[in-house]
Amino acid sequence: MQNGVSVAKIDDIPLGKSIGVRCHGEDIAVFNIDGVFYACSNRCPHAGAPLQNSMIAGTVISCPWHGWRFDLAAEADAPRDGVIRYPVVVEEEDIIIAAPVSI
Ligand code: FES
Repeated sequence: MQNGVSVAKIDDIPLGKSIGVRCHGEDIAVFNIDGVFYACSNRCPHAGAPLQNSMIAGTVISCPWHGWRFDLAAEADAPRDGVIRYPVVVEEEDIIIAAPVSI
C-alpha cells in the first residue's frame, strides 16, 4: 500500500476491540469489527473524547462521552462529520494504515 504504515499485528486487536496508535502525525483509533479492520481519527469532533473507547454496533461507533455516532464504513461522509477515515489493509499479520484520501 502506498504511504502505508504498519501500526500493529492482527493479534493485537481482538474481535470487537480497538486500540489507539500514532501514525501519519495523527492519533488514530483502529477497530476490529468482525475481522475487518477500520481506522479513524482518535478524537471526537464534539469535545475531543478518545474514539478508541467507543461502543461498537455493526460498523457504527458511539463516542464514549456523549454518544455521537460515526459509521466507520461511510468513507464518503467523513468530511461532513469531522472524523477522518483511513484506508486499512492487512498484509500477512500486519495492519497497515494509509494516509487519508482527503483531509
Ligand atoms: S466528545 Fe464525543 S460526543 Fe461529546
